[in-house]
Amino acid sequence: MSALAGRRILITGISRGVGFETARSFLAEGAELVGTASDPARLEAARRALDPEGRRLTVVAADLTDPSAPEVIARAARERWGALDVLFNNAGVQLDGSARGLLDGTEAVFERSLDVNLRAPYRLCRACLPLLLEGREPRIVMVSSGAGNFESMRSPGIASYRLSKWALNGLTMLLATELAGKVAVNAFDPGWVKTDLGGPNAPGTPVESARGALALVTLPFSETGKFWKDGSEIPF
Ligand SMILES: NC(=O)c1ccc[n+]([C@@H]2O[C@H](COP(=O)([O-])OP(=O)(O)OC[C@H]3O[C@@H](n4cnc5c(N)ncnc54)[C@H](OP(=O)(O)O)[C@@H]3O)[C@@H](O)[C@H]2O)c1
Repeated sequence: MSALAGRRILITGISRGVGFETARSFLAEGAELVGTASDPARLEAARRALDPEGRRLTVVAADLTDPSAPEVIARAARERWGALDVLFNNAGVQLDGSARGLLDGTEAVFERSLDVNLRAPYRLCRACLPLLLEGREPRIVMVSSGAGNFESMRSPGIASYRLSKWALNGLTMLLATELAGKVAVNAFDPGWVKTDLGGPNAPGTPVESARGALALVTLPFSETGKFWKDGSEIPF
């Protein structure tokens, strides 16, 4: 039987990169999906590529930083299923450019990085919680980064991005404790892979990230509050 047969999964940022390949892999394993992105044209192109017959993927175009986005997205899952098994918070941005640190970068980059990479998943978790509590062995996955582990806080460059992912790891741990026994909450490092965000010099591919994502969402439900890469636990 397919690993995700009948699983109801909401995944953000499916128009490109890691989210696109993860959505493709989840559909191949039998999942039903609601997928989101901000750019409607890119999202529609992804929908046609992933589910040409329109049977198992519902798409919602919304900027996750829009105050109404969490409710608009949660409504799509509610109307389709009335429940949710997996919330896969994948959408993210890396905006630091050539800034060396937090102080020579702009406040706008700092704030936008935290808005998209931290506040948006937090708000979507809140909006989806009632649906998750109706789901089967429900899980939340936070797509984090190796650049957000504790050791990375001493590294130069991409500072707003590092901080946003470190904070996302903290959010993962806090929600895992708060939701213990009800919703499993884990962080995921997709590896450094070739995407618009990862750039052309990345050693890996989003197909490899998608393998790690599949390994994570098929772990035993008892696994919670941890950080994962390629199906193995890694240090926060
Ligand atoms: N690539 C890597 O090497 C790497 C390494 C570690 C972690 N990650 C993490 O993996 C995740 C996916 O990264 P990626 O490399 O696949 O990035 P990507 O190719 O740039 O794709 C980002 C996705 O997120 C969506 N998105 C961005 N901002 C959004 C917003 N405000 N509202 C709604 N959707 C938004 C984009 O939608 P639109 O097309 O509509 O803009 C797109 O679908 C991110 O969380 C990233 O931090 C990536």
